[in-house]
Amino acid sequence: MLIGIDLGTSTCKVIAVNGDGEVLAKQSRDYAMINLRQGWAEQDPAEWWRATDEAITALTASLPEGGREVSGIGLCGQMHGLTALDASGDPLRHAILWNDQRAAPQCDWITERAGGLDELLRMTRNRMLPGFTGGKIVWFRENEPELFARTARVLNPKDYLRLRMTGTCATDVSDASGTGLFDVARRAWSDELLQLLDIDRSLLPDVVESTDQTGRVKPELAERWNVPAGTPVFGGGGDAVIQTTAMGLVDAGAVGFTLGTAGIVAGGASSCPDNPGGRVQVSCGNAPGRWHCMGVSLSAGGAFQWLRDALAPATTTDPISFDRLIGLAQAVDPGSDGLRFLPYLLGERSPHVAPEATGSWVGLTPIHHVGHLARSVMEGVLLNLREILEVCGDAGLDCERVIASGGATSESLWLQMLADVLDREIAVVTGSSEGGAYGAAMAAGVGAGVWEDFDQALAGVSVERTFVPQPGPAQAYDRIFPAHRALYDALKPLYQ
Ligand code: XUL
Repeated sequence: MLIGIDLGTSTCKVIAVNGDGEVLAKQSRDYAMINLRQGWAEQDPAEWWRATDEAITALTASLPEGGREVSGIGLCGQMHGLTALDASGDPLRHAILWNDQRAAPQCDWITERAGGLDELLRMTRNRMLPGFTGGKIVWFRENEPELFARTARVLNPKDYLRLRMTGTCATDVSDASGTGLFDVARRAWSDELLQLLDIDRSLLPDVVESTDQTGRVKPELAERWNVPAGTPVFGGGGDAVIQTTAMGLVDAGAVGFTLGTAGIVAGGASSCPDNPGGRVQVSCGNAPGRWHCMGVSLSAGGAFQWLRDALAPATTTDPISFDRLIGLAQAVDPGSDGLRFLPYLLGERSPHVAPEATGSWVGLTPIHHVGHLARSVMEGVLLNLREILEVCGDAGLDCERVIASGGATSESLWLQMLADVLDREIAVVTGSSEGGAYGAAMAAGVGAGVWEDFDQALAGVSVERTFVPQPGPAQAYDRIFPAHRALYDALKPLYQ
């Protein structure tokens, strides 16, 4: 049996998976976001650990055999966060998260120090996006020099859990790719860039493949969790990468659309993709010798959630349920009677690198009612993902098949609209609802020898449902797409 852990942005989810890939039990525990200022997002690493410890204790307690059959633990988590630790491994401040925008000026400085965007892309294959760890390290050094001077290590969030579990400082190649300091093509830290930025290599953890062992669970934890003494912990992966792996997408061919708070378009590759203009994120894949290419839109399901909360927050006496909003959207014709929506509520990463962008409706008239607002938000989100698919195509991502996963896929309307907007069949596969936790369990299983490789581990992943494009709506979206695409350029001068 394997345990997969997903340290998400609001919840730590843990699952137990058997050798047939079946999920036997799951548990989750929440923690809070700390937003001290507009654009800042932090969390307390002690809370991550409390949530993980409680969830694993409850998980193994819920299994008839306890955790005695556990042969490996895999980790996955929110990417790009900065967890600064002193020489004893204690956090020096709250962690700065992936969706924190404060380091945008430092990212510009890094690009300049590298000798421009093309040079940076040569060294790492990635643009230094404001969410990435590299910019946060420079911000920390500039703004909190006393704490920075006491910093012995910086770790990504899931790797802080690894340190607490095993005493080992390590990360895996997919999470390291999201720091912006990693040479993704060579699967190693970019010493060239670290030198130019004057970042000491010893601040960063050792890097392993996702299926490599990185230490063993400490004796006192093994006892509390009722797992075998010395249970091995494996590399795992950054959530956005390993949840693509969990959909069965290790090699080129199929593309995964994840409709969560963010929207992710991603696929695998057998060589390191080029990233012309740095418009996508390129990382090492979870299988050795594989790579991964993705475009991340910061507001997908999150934009719909915003609409629901803006119309009637869940705390009011008459909140609008998601089901009701979906029902109202369904009753409106494709195209929302000319109402267009751009979902850049939090700025954007892809298809445009535009932290300064904002959301908008264009084309409002008195005929539009709440159903149009809802449908246009969904259409804007999905047309934006269609644009990202094109950008990923320019970076060499093949799209023979489309697989969808993520929280929003529990609503058929999202999936049918995705099929119509892309004019392609959409498949939903088993196991994908467990997302990154499932991928982490697979990585641990391959590492522990339960399966030979990811192909064998993922052999049980099968198609659960398919959605076929409907000719009328697909034609309507084809007509709307150029106008949707033109809107960003038209509104760009308004973004500050
Ligand atoms: C990926 C990304 C998010 C976070 C949080 O680049 O920023 O997916 O990892 O889930």
